[in-house]
Amino acid sequence: MEKQVHFIRINQADCIRCRRCVRICTAKVFDFSSAEGAVRVVQPESCIECGHCVDICPKNAVLHSFFPQEALHSYDIHDFPEPDRLMLLMKARRSNRAFSDKVLPEDYVDKIKEAALCAPTAQNSRNVRVLVVSDPEKIKAVTAFSLETFTRAMRILENPLIKFFLHKKMRQVYAMIPKFKKMNEAFYQQGDDPVLHHAKALMFFLAPANSRFGLADCNLAYQNASLMAESLGVAHFYTGFVISALQQDRKQRLYRLLGIEKMRIYAGMTLAMPEFRFERYADRMPQTR
Ligand SMILES: Cc1cc2nc3c(=O)[nH]c(=O)nc-3n(C[C@H](O)[C@H](O)[C@H](O)COP(=O)(O)O)c2cc1C
Repeated sequence: MEKQVHFIRINQADCIRCRRCVRICTAKVFDFSSAEGAVRVVQPESCIECGHCVDICPKNAVLHSFFPQEALHSYDIHDFPEPDRLMLLMKARRSNRAFSDKVLPEDYVDKIKEAALCAPTAQNSRNVRVLVVSDPEKIKAVTAFSLETFTRAMRILENPLIKFFLHKKMRQVYAMIPKFKKMNEAFYQQGDDPVLHHAKALMFFLAPANSRFGLADCNLAYQNASLMAESLGVAHFYTGFVISALQQDRKQRLYRLLGIEKMRIYAGMTLAMPEFRFERYADRMPQTR
């Protein structure tokens, strides 16, 4: 698909030639012509629609069809959380699997999603999509899918011939087998959810299957979402187990179940209101194991 060129214009009557737009633009859309004594739009086709030019202009003189007036928001930097408060949020953020049955407010989910979609994307692709799954049957199916996928892999690894060749090289993987068996037992016999811990909702972060930075973009979106969830008091954790199962599933079972086409799930998180909250944090130590 051909790239759409947006309408970008400098309102020369308002422009004070501060050249901030020239400096801030990574795509070299603007130039300052000393002959004319004016800032000019020279390469609109290379615009990546980041909005830096309209945000930086002190006189509102950069007109960009992608960013109409109603899309621009002034703020006071004093309204930012102070560094110590932000640091506290980062230190106090915890994976919390002690989910309760309490209702997860929809506006909380919306806020978490909004935070996720503010994260930067490579080349400003803005290609990340958020899928929220809150149907309990679908959530259960995600757990079943994850366990089934690992069970299939486990059966292959337990084949005596394969085990003979691999078990020394893959000690850590073989050590996980009893754990998977216990997880299966918990799910199928005790009605427990050892993968998603009876989450009220799942939030998946998707990008086009062929995108070079899909993984990075989605993980950054997750991190924004995680901090917002913590700030709202929503218990959550990263669904690495599900993501790992998705990577093994060539038949795209979960994609079909969730009705996803052409996109790939690169990251995910569970959401629920907590049974209880953390009230202190332990220092994270550098890994010594
Ligand atoms: C890539 C990644 C995958 C993870 N996968 C899971 C998971 O499948 N299940 C789970 O309960 N926690 C998962 N976690 C959460 C970690 O276990 C957790 O971050 C770690 O125990 C430290 O706790 P904290 O997040 O409270 O600092 C994952 C975290 C990351 C970064």
